[in-house]
Parts: sequence; structure tokens; C-alpha cells
Amino acid sequence: MPLLTVSTSPIDGQKPGTSGLRKQTKIFQSPNFLENFIQSIWTGIGGVTGKTLVLGGDGRFFNAEAAQIVLRMAAASGAARVIVGQNALLSTPAASHLIRKRGADGGIILSASHNPGGPNGDFGVKYNTGNGGPAPESVTEKIFAATQVISEYAILDSADIDLATLGEKTLGDMIVDVVDPVADYADLMASIFDFDALKALFAGGFRMRFDAMHAITGPYARAILEDTLGAETGTVINGTPSPDFGKGHPDPNPIWAKTLMDEMMGRDAPDFGAASDGDGDRNMIVGRGQYVTPSDSLAALAANATLVPAYSGGLSGVARSMPTSQAVDRVAAAQGIDCFETPTGWKFFGNLLDAGRCTLCGEESAGTGSDHVREKDGLWAVLFWLNILAKRQISVKALMEDHWQRFGRNYYSRHDYEGVDAGAANALMDDLRGRLSALPGTQAAGLTITSADDFAYDDPIDGSRTEKQGIRIGFDGGARLVLRLSGTGTVGATLRVYLETLDTAVFDKDAQEALAPVIAAAEALAGIKDRTGRDAPDVIT
Ligand code: G1P
Ligand code: ZN
Repeated sequence: MPLLTVSTSPIDGQKPGTSGLRKQTKIFQSPNFLENFIQSIWTGIGGVTGKTLVLGGDGRFFNAEAAQIVLRMAAASGAARVIVGQNALLSTPAASHLIRKRGADGGIILSASHNPGGPNGDFGVKYNTGNGGPAPESVTEKIFAATQVISEYAILDSADIDLATLGEKTLGDMIVDVVDPVADYADLMASIFDFDALKALFAGGFRMRFDAMHAITGPYARAILEDTLGAETGTVINGTPSPDFGKGHPDPNPIWAKTLMDEMMGRDAPDFGAASDGDGDRNMIVGRGQYVTPSDSLAALAANATLVPAYSGGLSGVARSMPTSQAVDRVAAAQGIDCFETPTGWKFFGNLLDAGRCTLCGEESAGTGSDHVREKDGLWAVLFWLNILAKRQISVKALMEDHWQRFGRNYYSRHDYEGVDAGAANALMDDLRGRLSALPGTQAAGLTITSADDFAYDDPIDGSRTEKQGIRIGFDGGARLVLRLSGTGTVGATLRVYLETLDTAVFDKDAQEALAPVIAAAEALAGIKDRTGRDAPDVIT
């Protein structure tokens, strides 16, 4: 099979962001864009010769073609074996699990997560290391450096390999092992949760709706919830993955999963509702008449973790990304365990999980996970909730009310301003950053500022320092404001404003009303309307 060495030159914009390299699909399809990045991954990881990789994606438009290119390039550069999900499909948590289970050196995940797909949507490539987690910055920096000096790439000149049939085949000297994308993951879930209790729950008439949002989790959810645990047929909706996610936005939040939200807030709602995103790592939890914020979900899972067989011995610690609400901190304090605050992005949890310093971790952006893999895991979070509900025989609403009685309620919301002029967004952040040291002791819209800083993280395991991770402003009484710019957007800048306030007495307020003073303080401090030219956020979650 002829091996081609193709001349190329560096292409701008190949710096991996919060979660791999994410761009508009048509940019990924443009000449050499994908090839340059893949060759730079090989360079960044010290070569792929003799290595074993896992490969799969969320099935979005260009997934199948991109997988063939990755395979031909891996073979051309001497990889020994690539384990591929059938039809090049793997959810992100399933890929993480396969890397760990098979002892692979790493893996490539083709996904732009919750971003819309299709020819006019987005595409992405992530590299995960041998622990199953997203490559740390030390690796992504090497990959980026390689993209800036690349002059050629190697690829086999060969026909597409059959990825529909399970089993081992060869591509040049490389073995391509096509595996069932669901089976290993389903086994892992059965080893963590009390499947007998879950079967009994569904057998007792418990009703659930799972919105797979036309994305990758459909086959996993059907196999586990319906076929194994006995949830009634039709529990999983939008369960067939489609290249453009049914023209939808596969982001599981009350805005994009509105149909599910409406059902759960309506008459005769099921007992439990959940949704997952494009690549299956995010989750949304909603009970009958009760939405649970991701920050509250993390806190509730931590508080009830010992009901799950895998966590029955207790948690070694918990971790949350900095903008995530401090609800879990209160649970950790009550349990006497560590609570780590990390920069946004799952890659920062990896060292803590590997070192056994934390068991559960989560982000406000619908990400929850544990030490079972090194990615966040949507379906795992759903099964965790079901396991708790089965053991406690309680509704979601009652469980959260009980939780807030014990720990207080951290009212929380995120306001996103999307597609903002990048210069204006940077100026807003730079200006506020410049004023931070003078803020403590002053007032903003009637709130007294107690702390203000630009978040920097010193990794306690490897000693690395990550700076400029978002502006944190604390107020008297436990309220908090965080501002940062997105690292996953593909057009202009996205300003994220995270708002939080603690109430230890009243638990049934509307979140936006409870947060009105913090929202006013954000405007007073950052002049968001003026700077962005927007009257209101584009998305409120
Ligand atoms: C967003 C979320 C972040 C998450 C990431 C990948 O990143 O905010 O928590 O880890 O997507 O799913 P951002 O766009 O804010 O950089
Ligand atoms: Zn995702």
C-alpha cells in the first residue's frame, strides 16, 4: 500500500481550547486542516510508532470521513493497533473507558460535544492520554507547537476500511479492531450501580423519559435503561444518532431540551427526566416539577454517594470547576473531605482522580463524573440519580428540599453573551482585571465586595500553574460573581457570567429573582450592556 508524504504548511487557528480543537465543520474539511492537526498530535505525543490508540466519535457530519483519515495517518506513521467503535462511533465516556480497559496509549475522539453538527455546524478533535482523560496542557502545548512548524504529513494511499463489521482487520501493517461501542461501557455501569434495585424500581412502575437529543447516547441508553433495566419502551426519545442531531442543538439544558422540560413540568409528568449531549458526557436532571442545576446535582450525588455500591465506602474527596456553585463545598465540609476548585475543563480533574485525591467531580455546565473514567459521563450521572431514588424511595423534588434544609440552597445561574466582538469582550475582561485589587471593601449595586481575584490554579499533584482562568468576585453573605470567556466557541467571543447566592432559609424562590442583586452588581462592575451592545444574555441556564 503506497505511503504518501504530503507537503503542507502551518494553518492558523489550531490551538486546542477548553476541550480539544473545535472549529466549524467546513474549516475542518478544508485542505490539510484535519491532516495537519492529526500529524501534530503524533508529533506532540512523541510519535505514534508501535502505539495502541482508541478512536471513535459522536457520529456528527464528517465523523466517518475523518475517522478514515485518522486511520490512514496512524497506519502511515507506524501505529500498531487502533481500537475503533463500530461505524466510528463512541461516546466520550465510553472512549475514556476503552482506553483504560485496553491499556491503550491514548485515543482520538471526534466530537464538538454539544455544539450543533452538520455541514454548517461544528466539528472537533480531542486527544486523550493513556489514563483515559483529556490531554493536559503540557501535551496540548506540544501539539500546538507542532502545528506551527509542520511541513509534511504521512498518509496511506488506500481505500476506506470497513468499520461496520466487528472484528480485527489490517490496514497496512496496523491492526484495526472494530468493537461494539456499547458493551464494555454497559458492563462498567453494571459494576458500579445496584442494577437489581434499578430493575425493581422500574418493575414497580417508575416512569422515566431520557432525551438522547438525536446524539450518541441513544444506543447506550436504550441498551441499559430499556433492554437491561426494564424501563418501558419509549423511555428513550430521540434515540437514533443523526449527523446533524435532527437539526437540533444537542446541549442538555432547559433551553435546548425544552420539550422534555415542558413534559416534566406538565400534568402527568414522568417521575424522572434526563438528557445527554452530542458526545454523551453531559447530563441534565429534572424531576417531576423540579429542575436540578448541575451544581446542585453534584452536591446531591456527593451527599448520597454511599447508597451506590461503588462508593459505599465514602468519597476520598470532591472537586468542582471554579465557576461551579459552592453547594458541593458544603457537603464536603459536612463529610470532612477535601473539596478542590479547579479551572474550567475536565482535563484539570485528571491528576486529582489519578492520585486518588477525589472520587466525584463536576462542572456547572452539565458535567458530572467520578474516578470510573477520566471524562464526565452523562448516562453514569443518570444511573447515579436512579440508584439514589431507588434506595431512598423519594421524589427528586423531595430529595432536593431535604438537601437544601440540611445544607442551604446555592441559587445559581449562568448568563451567556454569544458571538460578541472579541475585542470588546477582551476589553471588558482586561478593564475589570485591572481594577480587581481595589475592589474589596467597596460596594457594587448595594453588595459589599469581600474578595476579588483573577483565578490561578496550582495543581497539587504536578505543581503546574494555570493562570487567567476567570475573574472571581465574592460578596458579603456568600454571594459570588464569576466572569470568563469561553474556550470552546467557534465564532467571536462568548462571555459567560456566573451568578450565585446562598440562602439558608427560603428554598422556593425563582433563581433569577434570588440573584437579582448579584446580576445588578455584575452590570455595575463590568458594564456588560455597554461593552457588548446587548440588552440581555442570549442564553440563561
Ligand atoms: C464549556 C464549559 C466547560 C466544559 C467545556 C467542555 O467550556 O463551560 O465547563 O468543560 O465546555 O464541555 P467553555 O466554552 O466555557 O470554555
Ligand atoms: Zn460533550
